[in-house]
This record gives sequence, structure tokens and C-alpha cells, in this order.
Amino acid sequence: MKILSGTSNPKLSKDICKQLKLKLVNTNIKRFADGEIYVEINENIRGNSVFVIQSTSNPANDNLMELLLVIDALRRSSAKNITAVIPYFGYARQDRKVVPRTSISAKVVANLITNAGAGRVVTVDLHAGQIQGFFDMPVDNLFTTPLFAKYIKKNFKNKNLICVSPDVGGVQRTRGLATKIKADLAIIDKRRPKPGQSQVMNIIGNVKGKTCIIVDDIIDSGGTIVNAASALKKNGATDVYVFITHAVLSKDASEKIKKSKVKKLIITDTIDNSKKIKNNNKIQVLSISSLMAEAIKRISNSTSVSDLFN
Ligand code: R5P
Repeated sequence: MKILSGTSNPKLSKDICKQLKLKLVNTNIKRFADGEIYVEINENIRGNSVFVIQSTSNPANDNLMELLLVIDALRRSSAKNITAVIPYFGYARQDRKVVPRTSISAKVVANLITNAGAGRVVTVDLHAGQIQGFFDMPVDNLFTTPLFAKYIKKNFKNKNLICVSPDVGGVQRTRGLATKIKADLAIIDKRRPKPGQSQVMNIIGNVKGKTCIIVDDIIDSGGTIVNAASALKKNGATDVYVFITHAVLSKDASEKIKKSKVKKLIITDTIDNSKKIKNNNKIQVLSISSLMAEAIKRISNSTSVSDLFN
């Protein structure tokens, strides 16, 4: 087994390698002056099972193209099998035609990864589980719920907790966490009048006097979370904590969180945000490197990955 890192999140790749006691494959990945990407693998990988770690986060298109070129280079270098490890799977929110004459980008990305030569995909908290079916190959979708549950059990003892889904689409994920930490469940009825805008219509459940734990897969502009936190506080919540797997944090999202009613935002490192959150002490990072390393080990040894979540 060999681990190769793309350039989107080298820190996470290094941390995964550390856990697996492996060295990263020696590569040369660079940009030409016009922005095209050059990939060279500087060691023999013939007959190896290679795991390529690359989040397709911002700049999504460059990072995706880099992933495709790395997979292609590995295929042409006779790797035995290639696993695309995509901690943050970009384009996942475009998984169906919401209005006529739009593309289903998640499917296009799945086709690209397949055609480049990957034989398996490993990802984390896929925005919509059905994207697994866009691939005709095994897709291991890892969940962060156990990681968040462990943190909450350790740090939120004796608090009157309620888990809150920021929209109807997130109920299953939130219920999973609520079950694990034995808390109640509330749901926010969110509407999007326009793409990029969110509005809280109703809160289903009683949050008065409770410490709210919002859980979501993505924070992008921050609108959903900022609005949810103010609505919860208006309805009598004591404090609002937020747990997010993929911190896209576009534009001024980090600043918005700083000024919001959110007490603390806990994110993972599927996306490298070290620069963006440097001066924001409301944001804390929980690493998923151990979870990913363990999953990679199990895939390599052909043992159960789902057991990790039981
Ligand atoms: C939507 O279905 C996702 O789970 C997130 O709630 C959404 O992407 C967050 O976006 P924003 O931070 O821009 O409101």
C-alpha cells in the first residue's frame, strides 16, 4: 500500500501517513505558467495499491483536475489499484436537476474520476448518500458522527442538550448524533428564497433553556448557521454550538461566525482552513486523520469499514 498526496490538503495527508507509519509517495506536482497542471511520480509504484488523498475544495476545478491527472499518472505507471480518497467531495450539492436545463455536476465528476482510472472512492459525509450510486465501483462514505459524539460526551457533561438540524435535509444525520449522545431533536424549517440566501421559517421542537448542538455537513457562506443560531437564541436557547464536517467557509464566512450568536464552531480538517481561521478563536478543528487512516488500513486488509461506526 502506498499513500500519495495531492496539493489541496497536505497536512491531512501527512497526518494520515503518520498514523499508518508510511511515507508519502515522492511526487512532483506543479503548475505551468498558464495554470495547467504537471504531475510526475518519482518512485516505482508498479503493482502497488495506491491511495490518492485529495479534497476537491476551493479551487475546486484545479483540485479536481489535479486528482484526475494523478490517477492517470498512476494508471499509466501500472499501479495495481487506485483509490481516490476525497475527504471533501466538491460538486456534491449539484446531485439532481432542481430546475430544468441544469447539469448534474456530481455525476459528471463521478464519470471523470471513473474514466481517469480509480477503482474505489473513499470520502467523508457525502452531501447526499445517493451519489455513491453515481459510481459503478465501491464507495466508502465515512461518517464523522462518532467523532463528534465522543467530543460532545467529553466536553458537554451535565448540559441540557438538544441536537438541531439546520434544515429538513439534515434530519437523518442529526438524529444519528442525537441517538448517540442521548439528546432530543429539533428541526429548523429553512427556505432558500434564492441560491446563497437562507431564511428560517419555523423551529420544530422546544429549545428553550437548552444547549443547542447544530450539526451539518457543510458550512459555506455561513448564512444557514448564522440565521439558525439567531433564531434558536430568539426562541430561548441557552447556547448554540455547531459541528460541521466540511468547512468550505467562502468569502467572509469566518468573520460572520465571529460576529454571530454561535458560541463555538467545531469543524474537521477535510478542508485545509489553517489560514482562514487563524484569528478566529470561535472555531476549533477536530482532525479526522485517525478515522481516515483506520479506514484506509481496513480497506487495504479487506476488513470491515462499517464496523468503525457501530
Ligand atoms: C445544504 O444542504 C448544506 O447541508 C448546508 O446547509 C449548506 O451548504 C450551507 O450553506 P451556507 O453556509 O452557504 O448557508
